[in-house]
Amino acid sequence: MRSYRCRCCGGPLEVRVETDQVFSLNSLSGRVQSIWRYEELLPDLGNPVTLGEGMTRLVRCERLAKLIGVRNLYVKLEGTNPTGSFKDRGISVGVTVALRAGADKVVCASTGNTAASLAAYAARAGLECAVLIPKGKVASGKLFQARLFGAVVCEVSGTFDDALRTALREAESIGAYVLNSVNPWRLEGQKTAAFELWEQMSGDTSFDVVVPVGNAGNISAIWKGFEELSRHGLIDDLPRMIGAQSSGAAPLARMMRLGLDEPSWVDDPQTIASAIRIGRPVNWKRAIRAVRRSGGMIYDVEDSEILEAMRLMATSEGIATEPAGAAPIALLKSKIQSGELPRDLTYVCIATGHHLKDPSSALVSWNEPVPVEDYLTRAGLQRTRFRE
Ligand code: F0G
Repeated sequence: MRSYRCRCCGGPLEVRVETDQVFSLNSLSGRVQSIWRYEELLPDLGNPVTLGEGMTRLVRCERLAKLIGVRNLYVKLEGTNPTGSFKDRGISVGVTVALRAGADKVVCASTGNTAASLAAYAARAGLECAVLIPKGKVASGKLFQARLFGAVVCEVSGTFDDALRTALREAESIGAYVLNSVNPWRLEGQKTAAFELWEQMSGDTSFDVVVPVGNAGNISAIWKGFEELSRHGLIDDLPRMIGAQSSGAAPLARMMRLGLDEPSWVDDPQTIASAIRIGRPVNWKRAIRAVRRSGGMIYDVEDSEILEAMRLMATSEGIATEPAGAAPIALLKSKIQSGELPRDLTYVCIATGHHLKDPSSALVSWNEPVPVEDYLTRAGLQRTRFRE
């Protein structure tokens, strides 16, 4: 359970749950309201370390669909997980495995959300926790969470990719179990987003899934979930997986656009979406395989498009997300406009993290507070004009 790399080739390991038993839509009713309701397709680990992760809301967005020009649009609000991001799914499974493997310390590198999640679940399990973050590059809400839950927060000068290299290199010397998405148990938890979509859409999976891509674990995990549903005969249609990267941190979008065999890494990734400011995604092979098998694609979007997508979501639907979580909406809007994606489909966008994770004022610079007098005068003038 402790190793997460193949001893022969050094590649990432994959977990396979062998079972003849699988849930059906009917058999799920009345089960626990967390990822653990899908127990047949999760590893059998005894008592899980859980905070009630999963079962996040799937919201139909008619006004937003009209604005960006698609027939049907759903947004899955992963910000409603216990620590406010999809990471809780994988960390619940990963920390349960760490306990089973006899670890007393866990570690991860993080752009913020994994750190917040691991800190909380380690506290719940009574484990020591250290998180390595790129100094000065983590959103304030996430840093606050990691500190609040009592993790040792270690700052690394450099990028997330530098922090991950350090975590992987030093884990053994500090006796810690690594819970980044190179750890295959993480993906087992995260694949449950696919099961939930299947359940929430009453078994009809004729939609495309749009997911932000950073280290590329989540898009791989969600695809794994759909493949398992298909293997067990629960679905006929496998959704297309469409990935969204930020233009300043887009090695996989570039690789796919140019039809290359390998990505060229981005040494100094830059984007307002700090969660996906990653230049060397460790799960790139899995992600590219998932996207190609599904018939999908990975595209990149500009920061300005992400900001506009956040604004549109928030003001047209009253739902919000941190910048990375808005990248799928930004992508849809741009690719529908350019004709690269068809309008006449159902799209599910994964809003991966809660908006209060990153309450930077730069994200709402389009709406500056005004002195009350100005507002009253303006509103009064409008009323007078209306009366006239
Ligand atoms: N969206 C959010 C909000 C994230 O926090 C992340 C990753 C992603 C998307 C991308 O997911 O890496 O599986 O492709 N955050 C990691 C972290 C890297 O440390 O919290 P991915």
